[in-house]
Amino acid sequence: MSGTVSRRIVAAWLREVGVDYVLRPTAREETLEDIRKELTECRRCPLCTGRSTVVFGVGNPRARLMFVGEGPGSEEDRRGEPFVGAAGKRLDRWIARIGLRREDVYIANIVKCRPPGNRAPFPDEAKVCLPYLLRQIRAIRPEIICTLGATALNFLLGVEGKITRERGKWRERDGIPVLPTYHPAFILRDAARETEVFEDFDALASRLRLPPAK
Ligand code: URA
Repeated sequence: MSGTVSRRIVAAWLREVGVDYVLRPTAREETLEDIRKELTECRRCPLCTGRSTVVFGVGNPRARLMFVGEGPGSEEDRRGEPFVGAAGKRLDRWIARIGLRREDVYIANIVKCRPPGNRAPFPDEAKVCLPYLLRQIRAIRPEIICTLGATALNFLLGVEGKITRERGKWRERDGIPVLPTYHPAFILRDAARETEVFEDFDALASRLRLPPAK
């Protein structure tokens, strides 16, 4: 009560002296831990019934560069960390190529629970999970996002075009530049396209002003 009264008095005085704003308690910014806690219990879509664990995301909470993949596979579901299987090892190599380590960047997925049989997430599942990813992005505030594969291109950027055509073209989500590239699992099946990924990673490095790859 006395807080409200004194706030009113201060607001009246500010009006009198011509300062035009309302005093509000400053809102605390949401942290990754706040979001993680909420997700642990998530039952918003049927994927929760098949998961061993929610695969939240991993890396530097202040990362300048963030990667967004599709959804956890079996290894990720077991270990609770994104991109730890064969595709993840390939992603680590691409990250190392631009002089960074997995701990320097942040890695998350469009959906946090494993789709059965490693299928792509259905649109309803992706749409229900997307707000969590957007909150992660807001908490981290990366300078650049790199989407990996067609699912991330589609659901984070709303682009339905073919990844072979859309990769390497800068776009934007919530004011953050986003570069789509191939999913590492795709490159494991079609190694000839890896040179295009190298081009995309060089573009990421140059936008972040990282020293050129050796
Ligand atoms: N593929 C993805 O898209 N994400 C993972 O975490 C693992 C494989």
